[in-house]
Amino acid sequence: MASIGQPIDRVDGHLKVTGRAKYAAEFALPDVAHAMLVQSTIGAGEIIGFDLDEAKAMPGVLAIITPENAPKLATKGGAQQTVRAPLLQDMRVFYNGQHVAVVVADGLDRAAAAAAAVRVRYRHEEPVTSMDAVLDQAYVPKNFRNGERPADTKRGDPDSAFATGAVKLEATYTTPIEHHNPMEPHATIARWDGDRLTVWTAIQGISGAQQSLAGLFGIDPGNVRVICPYLGGGFGCKGNTWPPAVLAAMAARVVGRPVKLAVTRAQMFTSNGYRPRTIQKMRFAADAQGTLLAMRHDGYSQMSQPALGEFAEPVGLATEMLYACPNVAVTHRLIATNASLPTYMRAPGLASGNFALESAMDELAVALKMDPVEFRLRNYAEQDPHENKPYASKALRECYRQGAEMFGWSQRSPEPRSMRDGNVLIGWGMATSTYPTHRLPASAHVRIGANGTALVQVGTQDIGTGTYTVMSQIAADALGLPVERVQFELGDSSFPHAPVSGGSMTVASVGPAVLAACQATRDKLFDLARSDPRLGWQNTTADALRLRDGAVIGPDARAPVAELLAHKGMQFVAADSNAKAGEEHERYAMHAFGAQFVEVRFDPDLGALRVSRFVGAFDAGRVMNAKTARSQLIGGIVYGLGMALLEATHVDAETGRIVNANVAEYLMPVNADVPEIQTILVPNDERNSNPLGAKGIGELPMVGVAAAVANAVFHATGVRVRDLPIRIEHLV
Ligand code: MOS
Repeated sequence: MASIGQPIDRVDGHLKVTGRAKYAAEFALPDVAHAMLVQSTIGAGEIIGFDLDEAKAMPGVLAIITPENAPKLATKGGAQQTVRAPLLQDMRVFYNGQHVAVVVADGLDRAAAAAAAVRVRYRHEEPVTSMDAVLDQAYVPKNFRNGERPADTKRGDPDSAFATGAVKLEATYTTPIEHHNPMEPHATIARWDGDRLTVWTAIQGISGAQQSLAGLFGIDPGNVRVICPYLGGGFGCKGNTWPPAVLAAMAARVVGRPVKLAVTRAQMFTSNGYRPRTIQKMRFAADAQGTLLAMRHDGYSQMSQPALGEFAEPVGLATEMLYACPNVAVTHRLIATNASLPTYMRAPGLASGNFALESAMDELAVALKMDPVEFRLRNYAEQDPHENKPYASKALRECYRQGAEMFGWSQRSPEPRSMRDGNVLIGWGMATSTYPTHRLPASAHVRIGANGTALVQVGTQDIGTGTYTVMSQIAADALGLPVERVQFELGDSSFPHAPVSGGSMTVASVGPAVLAACQATRDKLFDLARSDPRLGWQNTTADALRLRDGAVIGPDARAPVAELLAHKGMQFVAADSNAKAGEEHERYAMHAFGAQFVEVRFDPDLGALRVSRFVGAFDAGRVMNAKTARSQLIGGIVYGLGMALLEATHVDAETGRIVNANVAEYLMPVNADVPEIQTILVPNDERNSNPLGAKGIGELPMVGVAAAVANAVFHATGVRVRDLPIRIEHLV
């Protein structure tokens, strides 16, 4: 039976729940020393000097590395090449919490104690801690989406069309700084053997880390090995090679011993990016029948000081493609502040941009007195209006239909405050979800052992999404083996190359490489069987052979693979890749879609807002594993509920210090905040974009959740909240 699609348990589940899956900080290296980061306590200025006598005299201290004595790094170094200051290359301080020193000692407690004794003398400057105060200083990103497209796009003439609208909306929406907070904080163990560097590190992209570290330390990438078999989540904050990984390698070189640098939970708030605050100005108009005439989406996102690099939250990506509107303009601007460099966070741009887009769509539907689903269907895009191409596939209409049916949407009474349960106000809201389908080339390596089991290796990562499991399934089907007889290995840069586990692209990128390598292996096995005189299949074509349960099945007999191989005294090795991945973008617009439906209950006496029901219906293409897919959907929706109601990073206006840099005061949903979540995976199979027919599934389910909740809150209370997270003070 085909394994793809089946809800099989995670193949690494047992290792994880028994504590045997090893995470970066858990590798035991003899003679390892411990490093602790020291971070700035001012928001802007310059380091004048260090008083290190006390710290140096503390027991077990091996080295204190500061910008005054740090080894100089090369100026090239992959994605993080411009992040100089946190690499101890610069005396300037750009934000509160910037790494200003690293203390290495022969024990973790000793490193922490000495780090606390490091004294830094500063020349203070006034930090810019709020983007809102300096919106007039907005600037155009220099390298938006790594230069793959301009920061601003426009079709038609939205400003003139706006003037002709029967129904108009002009509104500003804001989203706060959010931090990823994966369960596993970032950690690295670094070891030098001469000029060869090995790092065990928590990273979503081992090949990127290999390139970055090689560049910064001026060595050949072949001399850097990056190992990461397990990740406790990432959500984007482990996508780049952030300073702590580099500083671990630097410290190991300085002390001549392996060094472990585990970032503390508090330090995670200034060490590896965050979702930047956004201010989004929307200007939409429709005619009296509900046809969109004009959409303008001007997005501003918070940045660090430009010296640290660049990241622009791409809030307009959905606005320009989701609806069939002839006049659309999208702009992206940055506001420099004294904060660390922002980065991708689950559904970057789409999650925050979609809050504004789908809230604005709801506001227009209300103004039109039109059902919000009906309004979206009225403006349904049959082909991609931004790229002017057909979709590789699009089952969004089915998402609306099946989601609405499961939710019972037809029972909704449209007037705000019209649905009640006793004194409790009930609101029903919805929003559209979308996320682009990305693909990049990857390669895979397959070996069939003499015992008939397959070993498949790819230098990819499993951030917790189920890569081990679904790749095992893909290989099992292609090789005609039960899943238990496939061993899939990842997380080692000595394996064939794969892209970063980001942008929801792992299945569509790595899966086809695994498939191709397994098919090449199968073809070799068929050749072997046909050339084996004992079987008498010399005149049999490969078409007549099958691989099943570890045997080649011929017209009249079955030949166990193990026996075929043993006879020749060999193992099979095949490698293949999907080197052309991405070319299908030339023909098709590739996106995943979804429809989110939510019920909220607001108790006006208590000011208590609860999410009581959630239905998400998604077109994520062909599903590889019904269980891990559903886990992704639930996880994404919960992440979206956090965005809607709880998550926000608070910055002290005077010092620029993050005041809730812990998981007690950085609020995230707990079980009691999460209702029953029903999910639908609308059947689809997108072979136009890749041979597995899969779209991405990791980021899609969080897109639209915040808008759906805000829309439900309006329906319950009549209060339109345009500022996330939605809080009691908005409603009472
Ligand atoms: Mo994701 S934000 O691309 O890890």
